[in-house]
Amino acid sequence: MAVRRQSRPRRFLMCEPRHFDVSYAINPWMHPDEEVDVRRAHRQWESLVASFRAHGHVVETLPPAPGLPDMVFAANAALVLGGRALGSVFHAPQRRGESDYYELWLKDAGIPVRRARSVCEGEGDLVPVGGRVLAGTGFRTTPEAHREAEELFGVPVVGLRLVNPFFYHLDTALFALDDENVAYYPDAFAPESRQLLERLFPHAVIATLGDALAFGLNSVSDGRHVFVAPGAISLGEELERLGYVPVPVDLSEFRKAGGGIKCCTLEVRS
Ligand code: ARG
Repeated sequence: MAVRRQSRPRRFLMCEPRHFDVSYAINPWMHPDEEVDVRRAHRQWESLVASFRAHGHVVETLPPAPGLPDMVFAANAALVLGGRALGSVFHAPQRRGESDYYELWLKDAGIPVRRARSVCEGEGDLVPVGGRVLAGTGFRTTPEAHREAEELFGVPVVGLRLVNPFFYHLDTALFALDDENVAYYPDAFAPESRQLLERLFPHAVIATLGDALAFGLNSVSDGRHVFVAPGAISLGEELERLGYVPVPVDLSEFRKAGGGIKCCTLEVRS
């Protein structure tokens, strides 16, 4: 019989998709001529908020700013760990304006923010697991930013190289299940990074290409409940087998921008 997994209540920062759109292309999922159903996106986002709250998590929001259609992807704005934040410097000029809004919110919440010195896209590429931070590079966040995170938070940062442009952020290819384990899609990583993951997480949940393309690795886990894209069929089955409780939330409208559940969710860790 599978073990009984424990959940830990989380504090999340999210940003309503009032101005969400795909008006430029900065990753291969984005096609500006494809129509975005903003009302549907809004409904999907509301259902994610409701689902987090129904499972005992605190969701706070910051107001969206016009002209920043990707601002809904709160995870990219910072990494917040131990009550401190490393604020993002976005790779794409179209997104750079988001940083000030998030920084203001965090400072207002009493969280000091240090703005990164090079491209750094927050939890999009920096994923805390237990006492360390897994850090993606290759498309967005730089290795220099990894070093900066290590300095600021005083925890080991493990660099991982991403190689498939469809999985341009670490959080599209891997998520933390709890303090000990992760789920990931191996082919998104360079061979040496894959070996490193195998060594660090011998019991990791290995996702299929189908799971990854359904944004199944862009999930949020509270240690027990895994808020996951319903299209990630084999991942959902595997999680269940291991005693996790998959909570399907459909954010398919955001896939048109290359985003999903985790992208919309910044964890505020005290
Ligand atoms: N359009 C956004 C970008 O390319 C999507 C960001 C998705 N966020 C994430 N955490 N993967 O920057």
